[in-house]
Amino acid sequence: IDQYCVIGNPIAHSKSPEIHPVFAAQTGQHLSYVRCLAPLDGFAATVRDLVAQGYKGANVTVPFKIEAVKVATRLTERAQAAGAVNTLSFVDGEIVGDNTDGPGLVADIVRNAGVALAGKRILLLGAGGAARGIMLPFLMERPASILVANRTVATAEALVANFAGQGIEVAACGFADITGPYDIVVNATSSSLAAEMPPVPASAFATGTLAVDIMYGNEPSPFMRFAAEHGADTRDGLGMLVEQAAEAFTIWRGVRPATVEVFNKLRTKK
Ligand code: ATR
Repeated sequence: IDQYCVIGNPIAHSKSPEIHPVFAAQTGQHLSYVRCLAPLDGFAATVRDLVAQGYKGANVTVPFKIEAVKVATRLTERAQAAGAVNTLSFVDGEIVGDNTDGPGLVADIVRNAGVALAGKRILLLGAGGAARGIMLPFLMERPASILVANRTVATAEALVANFAGQGIEVAACGFADITGPYDIVVNATSSSLAAEMPPVPASAFATGTLAVDIMYGNEPSPFMRFAAEHGADTRDGLGMLVEQAAEAFTIWRGVRPATVEVFNKLRTKK
């Protein structure tokens, strides 16, 4: 049986082991998928150990996504652009690093929310690792523009500089400089973890705006509540979570699972 796992620290909270076995059952694939707790100073050794045990791949979560870039012997273009890896494949003696987080968000917006990114004006809040992973997959959908707003403006400017010259307007600013409305607003800051929201003005939203928080929880985040109060349709990050898993599963197994069953199961479970 082909073995996979998700590596993190902590790892008990990870929902991936609730997702991949359902995908496997649905597509008739035989595999096991478990949680793997790596010591904070032992990520590389843990990966080597998994390879030695014959594992076929692993997902990578907090806090190892950046370290996984170094552990990989080969990177996909989107992992390179993200500067982070969430999916490892152990094939032919190589450790291939990919990143399916951004593609997962795109899939959730386009397929599940039914909102195309092409031609749209996008506001991306945050300029950390999560925001960086979103840039290339978003640009590939050919939006009209992407404005990156961040508390620390210099970080947003540095991020944007990496993605200039693709024929799409990309710009950086601070939260106070945001004027809208935007078609799509993505909260890729980690503010929801602290039950806070980035200081985005109400003018960013209008009726028809899609506001997506990449975090998920039992309750809508302060960002989602604020966006909804100002007319936006809202989504949390549960769809992105399930879609990034589906993308990883597809990389590993060569078959694409349907995501609605798992999504509904996780949503109603709470
Ligand atoms: P992640 O991997 O989740 O992206 P990160 O790389 O540490 O984590 O980036 C966190 C992002 O959330 C940054 O854009 C950070 O803003 P700064 O660059 O100014 O630090 C943003 N962030 C965190 N808490 C925030 C808050 N309460 N309000 C606004 N932005 C916040």
